[in-house]
Amino acid sequence: MDFEDRHVAITGGSSGIGLATAHELASLGCHVHLLARRAEPLATALGALRDRHSTRTFSVHECDVGEARQVSATFAALEQAGHTPSILINSAGISEPGYFQELELETFERSMRINYFGTLYTTKALVPKLLERCDGYIVNVSSVAGLIGVFGYTAYSGSKFAVTGFTEALRAELKPHGVGVSLLCPPDTDTPMLKHEREVVPKETKALNSGGGLLSAEQVAQALVKGVCARRAVIVPGRDARVAAVAHRFAPRLVERIMDRTVEKVQKHQKK
Ligand SMILES: NC(=O)c1ccc[n+]([C@@H]2O[C@H](COP(=O)([O-])OP(=O)(O)OC[C@H]3O[C@@H](n4cnc5c(N)ncnc54)[C@H](OP(=O)(O)O)[C@@H]3O)[C@@H](O)[C@H]2O)c1
Repeated sequence: MDFEDRHVAITGGSSGIGLATAHELASLGCHVHLLARRAEPLATALGALRDRHSTRTFSVHECDVGEARQVSATFAALEQAGHTPSILINSAGISEPGYFQELELETFERSMRINYFGTLYTTKALVPKLLERCDGYIVNVSSVAGLIGVFGYTAYSGSKFAVTGFTEALRAELKPHGVGVSLLCPPDTDTPMLKHEREVVPKETKALNSGGGLLSAEQVAQALVKGVCARRAVIVPGRDARVAAVAHRFAPRLVERIMDRTVEKVQKHQKK
């Protein structure tokens, strides 16, 4: 894949994995356009990108990806500016872990709106342009919790499994047209999202996650680029996460038993 002079739209590009990917792709020659809701982190991200990669074009767009109208207006503005992306990275996302019985219905609706519909709306806005050119690439960021249902993530895993299924089906449909699609499934990654999550996550979830290691956002961004260059359908960064994903695929009952035992141990310890 030649990244030089390509325009890339990155949702959730003002922070974490999205921002690290913006730097990685800018260093490979891409012009980068960031979408997120809050103006201040977007402005900070823009400043950092301009400082490090002065020869590229950058723009930022305040856009809630869970609002279809905002998404289509943003992509129309990019097109009008002559910056129609040929690469789309859907990294915007939220995680609201908790015990199922304590989570409000609104949490499930919000997770679906941002994580799943946010991915769908941007994809719907851009795919006609990619099909016209018979060229382009889409990376949808799911999670290891979008491959394995994890205690404490009923809202998050539900929305990320939706992203996983959508992306698998989309890859098959767009491949004959020369448009690549990958699913990125990171494990725990050191970002503001994880920091917030660790403050509220159930003890059982914390114990389950502790086995998976911790990656930096830069490591995940590098794995993303490597996976795109290899046109991998599913990109799982980090050795431990890859082992877990493969084990779950070929021995799901075994992985379930190990996870259930971890939960039992934490709950027994809590009762003492
Ligand atoms: N960190 C992890 O451990 C981990 C593990 C697996 C998967 N992931 C996935 O990786 C992706 C990136 O997460 P991260 O850890 O990099 O999180 P992060 O640092 O919190 O960044 C999230 C980004 O998404 C944006 N965003 C959130 N809701 C949005 C909305 N409705 N519309 C537009 N932008 C929105 C945020 O900006 P605003 O708030 O300003 O909108 C921010 O730029 C997510 O999809 C997440 O589920 C993360």
